[in-house]
Amino acid sequence: MNEVEFKADPKVAILGAGAIGQLLYHQLSAAGTCPYFITRKETLSKQTLTFTSLENKVSDSEAQLLSSATQLHSDDQLASTLAGTELIIVCVKAYQVRSAIDAILSRLPKQCHILLLHNGMGPHLEVAKQLSTQGLSVGTTSQGALKLAPWHIQQTGSGSTQFGHVSGSKLPETLKALLLNAITHSQWCDPILPLLWQKLAINAVINPLTAIEQCRNGDLAAPHYQTMQGKIISELVEVAHADGVELDKLVLTNRIDEVIKLTANNFSSMHQDVANKRQTEIEAISGYIIKRAAIHGLTSEANQQLFEQVKVLESRYLS
Ligand code: PAF
Repeated sequence: MNEVEFKADPKVAILGAGAIGQLLYHQLSAAGTCPYFITRKETLSKQTLTFTSLENKVSDSEAQLLSSATQLHSDDQLASTLAGTELIIVCVKAYQVRSAIDAILSRLPKQCHILLLHNGMGPHLEVAKQLSTQGLSVGTTSQGALKLAPWHIQQTGSGSTQFGHVSGSKLPETLKALLLNAITHSQWCDPILPLLWQKLAINAVINPLTAIEQCRNGDLAAPHYQTMQGKIISELVEVAHADGVELDKLVLTNRIDEVIKLTANNFSSMHQDVANKRQTEIEAISGYIIKRAAIHGLTSEANQQLFEQVKVLESRYLS
């Protein structure tokens, strides 16, 4: 238990009802805070959510939904639901963050804190510029959850979660304590950016390679991937250094090898995106490394090559 006392009933929203958004909903509500969802499509105002735990225990709960689609409600309705919201946890994919924030920005309460939680990097730079009075934090999680149906998830892994401050006012201690208490194996880390770069390194190696090679994570342990893996990491370490973040190539290599072993049977999220003909997160993974490299006058040939190969795969099904 954390030392800080919780507020009686903080108003927390989860923007995006994907697998991780629903997992956080269950963890927060099990700890006594019932968040509401902000989604783009839903027309219903309530929804029954089913949760299958790691131990295969099934439970149901009812969640409030607010649609951010302007055609479904008036601006005043959006404003009155958002009123008093102290924290919005944004759980959409990196490429959806901008439009998801845009949909609520004009009605966002002045003191509401935003927490971004997605694979890849980049959106925090844009969102920080958009916010006027609100504070911004980011997080990275290796918890696993799978959608079995639109409102039924199964927890598949009990990984760790790290959060940290990015810009504006800091997350109030009561809300920080609430998150750390509700989300298993979570920590507050300042600075958070080195951890985001470390997670980026894991995703920059595993995600594009498994999508291109159409293989499971574990297949990347084969010796012939070592040279490519080494190049991806070297480029990333150099770009992070130019961005003011010091990373150790050997530590990263060992961590990536460990993740490859621990998730050997899994298909990475990018592999699944390509297999299911969905937009991938390549822009926020290899794309972010390439963009930051260009800003610092560096080249990132290996990451550029993977970026282009994934874009070719996407172009076969995205119009
Ligand atoms: O995106 C993913 O699939 C995951 O972040 C990871 C760690 C690469 C495991 O599959």
